[in-house]
Amino acid sequence: MSTAYPPILQSSHLLGIQGLSVGEITKLLDLAEEYVALGRAKDKKVAVLKGRTVINLFFEPSTRTQSSFELAGKRLGADVMNMSVKTSSVTKGETLIDTATTLNAMRPDILIVRHQNSGAVSMLARKVNCCVVNAGDGSHEHPTQALLDALTIRRRGKSFEGLTVAICGDVLHSRVARSNIHLLGKMGARVRLVGPKTLMPAEVTRFGIETFTDMKEGLKGADIVMMLRLQLERMSGAFVPSTREYFRYWGLDREKLAYANPGALVMHPGPMNRGVEIDSAVADDIEVSLIHEQVEMGVAIRMAVLDALARGLPAGGRNV
Ligand code: CP
Repeated sequence: MSTAYPPILQSSHLLGIQGLSVGEITKLLDLAEEYVALGRAKDKKVAVLKGRTVINLFFEPSTRTQSSFELAGKRLGADVMNMSVKTSSVTKGETLIDTATTLNAMRPDILIVRHQNSGAVSMLARKVNCCVVNAGDGSHEHPTQALLDALTIRRRGKSFEGLTVAICGDVLHSRVARSNIHLLGKMGARVRLVGPKTLMPAEVTRFGIETFTDMKEGLKGADIVMMLRLQLERMSGAFVPSTREYFRYWGLDREKLAYANPGALVMHPGPMNRGVEIDSAVADDIEVSLIHEQVEMGVAIRMAVLDALARGLPAGGRNV
């Protein structure tokens, strides 16, 4: 593990990929490599965050992000508290800001927040004096997901420069897509979006990205096929005729994957809707699917992010 601790991040928060430089992203990926090795060792613990307090505050369900932040904090030696929103005073009408400032008064060092509203995590970060990590806000950003995706790609020996990545499916509701568009674009990859017109955001032309409604056309020449979950919980009307129809046109099966470059790799941030956006035969094929690797990289990236943020904390305690 690093013996000197040079700063990595300019900001005391990680709110999105949009605000990160290529240098910051590269340094986070490099640091995460060290934590991949640590995660595979017998003794997985270090004392980088010894004495620090990390709070997970998730207003939306999560399996991967919450558990990996918890593991990451514990492996770094921090005290980690998982705030259960369902049994908290939020159910009695307490506001997001009141909940956050209450937790802030307990003097945590890092607050990790997932919220259903885009922009909520940035707003909260202005009200507290600890570091804040965006663990996913509405359809805005999910920065640690994009970082772990980048680490997974890089570890497969792929250079970002000139890499063609097809992001497929429900782009409209996807914070994972937005963070990946920012990150992959900054790192020199060619990103294209594939999916039904109804699930493409209006600002897509502003992204300046090629879009396809046809999987055959969209996957042609792709090195990475990144599937997105159909986010039915964010849909108020009928965006797709039926999940069966959706799978027929935009679900990734072996036949559609064959349109991509030979050796193309498949990613999915999870949770997956099997038989809706991805066929089990593809998802479970360890020759092409990086899905489990993505989960492992999630712990390493989150350790790197917590380590990086802690480097900016004053040695004697946080700012008051
Ligand atoms: N990819 C992702 O954010 O998964 P969770 O919702 O399980 O955290």
